Amino acid sequence: MLQLAVILPTYNERKNIALMVERLDSALAGIVWEAIFVDDHSPDGTADEARRLSLTDPRIRVIERIGRRGLASAAIEGMCATAAPVVAVMDADGQHDPKLLPEMLAAVTGGDWDVAYASRFAEGASTEAWGRPDRVKASGMANRLARRVTGVQLSDPMSGFFMLRAETLRADAHRLSGVGFKILLDILATVDAPLRVKEFPLKFAARMEGESKLDRTVVFEFLIGLYDKWLGRIIPTRFALFGTVGALGVAVQMGMLYLLLRVLLGERFVYGHWSGETTFNIANTLAAIVAMTFNFVLNNELTYSDKRLRGFAPLMRGWAKFAMTCSLGLLTNVGSAAALKAMGFHDFVAVIIGIVLGSVWNFALSSKFVWGK
Ligand code: GDD
Ligand code: MN
Repeated sequence: MLQLAVILPTYNERKNIALMVERLDSALAGIVWEAIFVDDHSPDGTADEARRLSLTDPRIRVIERIGRRGLASAAIEGMCATAAPVVAVMDADGQHDPKLLPEMLAAVTGGDWDVAYASRFAEGASTEAWGRPDRVKASGMANRLARRVTGVQLSDPMSGFFMLRAETLRADAHRLSGVGFKILLDILATVDAPLRVKEFPLKFAARMEGESKLDRTVVFEFLIGLYDKWLGRIIPTRFALFGTVGALGVAVQMGMLYLLLRVLLGERFVYGHWSGETTFNIANTLAAIVAMTFNFVLNNELTYSDKRLRGFAPLMRGWAKFAMTCSLGLLTNVGSAAALKAMGFHDFVAVIIGIVLGSVWNFALSSKFVWGK
């Protein structure tokens, strides 16, 4: 009877597939297993290579996803696609040693442990062979941050090598975020029942072939995920991002205004004496347009990275709509401040409330009309 499914998310790992299968085969002697490669339509033909092996070895299965990307969501889909009572997830590039699998299996089937995982930072583990001191450092930081925010107390909650009973996962699979690389962390932070976790020290190896897919986007998504867990219920993540971008926009407008006035006024530029000149109004208008464009670009890249507008025409249309939204936001901003002042509020308070209302308005309108469906 099938005992174990090993899920291997892949993206551009063609050269590693056959080697990986060989290593699984020798490590799992005596165990009835299957391996599921979950590939995101890799351009290098990883899925074809896995299917080629599957033709003569039915223990090899392939899920090819089209138009999707992501390690965590691939792992979840792989784990949900097997009848095996126990599921493992590991990297397909040789950095995780399959020799640990039998001991991990014994741990989660023995009844003492719910999850077994391989830690790069446990007693007896090592990261030297990885050959990436920069990543070791970054990993340490990510781990500390993750421990603090989620309360998951493991030496390596970011590990991508773990095993658990399928039933444990299935109960909560629909609640997992599936974003980025942090799949184990997600499971431990999401599942309500306290899970008993057994740690195995891992000698984290160097990649066999190819290169890492952990890029800036993955890091950004990780930070966003932590924010979401930490404060997301009070101030929604998207609004927090939108607000942060807006605040940066203020700085851009100020800087731009300063530069423009220096250029336009030349000798006549005196710091702090800008008003009364037509030059000021022209410069400030230009600076505001630059700041607004900056906000549009940054919101498109970060706040709405999942709905990012691409290509010249969509970007121009988006920019024009964003400009219109901002003009309305400005009316709300200035208008409500004026109304509040008339009602007897202190100037400062009126301005702050105006800014907040204007931003909420901008946010609501732009999420619907600029980055909406
Ligand atoms: N399907 C799919 N889709 N697979 C992916 C994707 C994706 O978008 N991105 C990466 N993978 C696969 C890779 O092909 C590899 O088999 C595995 O996921 C790990 O990816 P790497 O790109 O090799 O990650 P790494 O070695 O830099 O990162 C290591 O540390 C991370 C945390 O610090 C890995 O151990 C990760 O598993 C771990 O989360
Ligand atoms: Mn890797």
